Amino acid sequence: MTEIRPATTSDSGAPVESDEHSLTVGPGGPILLQDAYLIEQMAQFNRERIPERQPHAKGSGAFGHFEVTGDVSAYTKAALFQPGTRTDLVIRFSTVAGERGSPDTWRDPRGFAVKFYTSEGNYDMVGNNTPVFFVKDPMKFQHFIRSQKRRADNNLRDHDMQWDFWTLSPESAHQVTWLMGDRGIPRTWRHMNGYTSHAYMWINAAGERFWVKYHFKTDQGIEFFTQHEADQMAAADTDYHTRDLFEHIRDGDFPSWSLYVQVMPYDEAAGYRFNPFDLTKVWPHGDYPLIPVGRMTLDRNPTDNHAQIEQAAFQPNNFVPGIGPSPDRMLLARLFSYADAHRHRIGANYQQLPVNAPVVDVHSYSKDGAMAYRNTTDPVYAPNSKGGPAADTERYGSPPSWTADGEITRAAYVSHPEDDDWGQPGTLVREVMDDAARDRLVDNVVGHLLNGVTEPVLERAFEYWSHIDETIGKRIADGVRAKADEKDFKAAEQGNPARSSM
Ligand code: NDP
Ligand code: HEM
Repeated sequence: MTEIRPATTSDSGAPVESDEHSLTVGPGGPILLQDAYLIEQMAQFNRERIPERQPHAKGSGAFGHFEVTGDVSAYTKAALFQPGTRTDLVIRFSTVAGERGSPDTWRDPRGFAVKFYTSEGNYDMVGNNTPVFFVKDPMKFQHFIRSQKRRADNNLRDHDMQWDFWTLSPESAHQVTWLMGDRGIPRTWRHMNGYTSHAYMWINAAGERFWVKYHFKTDQGIEFFTQHEADQMAAADTDYHTRDLFEHIRDGDFPSWSLYVQVMPYDEAAGYRFNPFDLTKVWPHGDYPLIPVGRMTLDRNPTDNHAQIEQAAFQPNNFVPGIGPSPDRMLLARLFSYADAHRHRIGANYQQLPVNAPVVDVHSYSKDGAMAYRNTTDPVYAPNSKGGPAADTERYGSPPSWTADGEITRAAYVSHPEDDDWGQPGTLVREVMDDAARDRLVDNVVGHLLNGVTEPVLERAFEYWSHIDETIGKRIADGVRAKADEKDFKAAEQGNPARSSM
């Protein structure tokens, strides 16, 4: 039986004469400018790439759904979290510092960005696989990312630059400890958790407010790669995590995550022992236990990775009624940054693309712009007396809010009794990690520091670790010194000056 294939057309839908031959004057003659199909092929090709995301450039994702199995209606009126509700979603996983072609298994936090297509508009939860972050003020975010990417002169990534920034930013200690531990290289995206990291506000039907943090716990179990395994995998399969997710979903082995929340009553924030809005701190489970909410399952692969994943635009400012921001200043800055990035990276009308469009009707007054797709109808202004959309202030009129007061200033957060940069990473090292995990932590840090970190940064790194935990700090310093001596000795034996980091 002959296969019936569609006839190739140009982008305007007209049948083309050949998939293989340009239009020429005789078989040996010149190509003609009137070959519009050839020109379309070349011109479209030249425009295939869009700017990659500044951070989180390497990643992939899938579609799925979220089902509410618990009852958190006492804390939020958000439709997507009401008992029994099922909501479709798209998720994108990523690394932070690497470019689009970089290995999936580099040591780095992983992005965990979910767009819920809810009955009240899109809700985006743009988190990471870690519960904390490196900095707590958005002024330092750009500097932090630059320190993790490439130098100006040789265009290389540089551990000296990374540790220079970290050791001058002690608030990074919790996230750096986390990153250098086992969870710094998840075995696959299926084997890691996702966290909002930030606190958010939830508001219930009675208007009561709560602070919440989300924890998506993997149902596949936590698994990680050692540094050695990850290095081998980076050489063998740059796209290992991308492939793993795609193949498991393709084969019907759908990964899932159980969502829990920690809930803090609104009034407890001010007197809590840690600043609950400081992104470098967790809320210990003992203070705020996990409350089950539901399950996220990924069951559908993209069919066009560019259209559905590369052009997916996640933005923490996409809230729905019942969910709002918190005073975490990192989060507040993010509410601006992402939509700005999308307008640059994708274009002003990025929210009209199918992957970004909500499943509910849009009645906004936005109009025109490049690639506008949605039909605009009159009236094009508000207020109007011509039947245009009107805000339902009776129902939606109160924005999520909290009390803020004081002189305008540039200052650190007000400290809470147990706020310091070293306490929680110290707990992680001493109380959460076991001996084997601590050994791997020391090896990972020693290996990282030996890879190009110079004085005075190196000495500062030893101090940094001894603040986190004195024993670990000493082991790291001893380990670096011993390995550096070994290197010098080997180089001297071979008559070569070693590139010593000491
Ligand atoms: P718990 O003993 O209740 O929680 C410790 C948590 O640490 C575990 O539940 C697990 O989080 C996580 N964990 C386990 N192994 C590792 C690892 N190798 N690297 C990173 N995280 C790991 O104690 P607390 O809640 O009092 O927290 C103690 C410390 O645990 C914190 O200072 C923080 O460093 C870390 N932690 C705390 C979290 C929190 O939200 N309270 C979340 C994650 C880490 P999970 O169950 O999410 O897998
Ligand atoms: C991506 C800014 C902190 C998680 C991005 C992008 C920008 C950005 C501009 C690229 C967006 C795009 O082009 O699509 C910032 C700023 C921050 C901040 C200004 C702090 C002030 C954080 C934190 C988290 C986070 C704390 C996690 C809790 C992510 C994720 C992505 C991302 C997951 C990738 C989203 C995707 O897959 O498309 N960030 N970021 N970021 N960021 Fe942040």
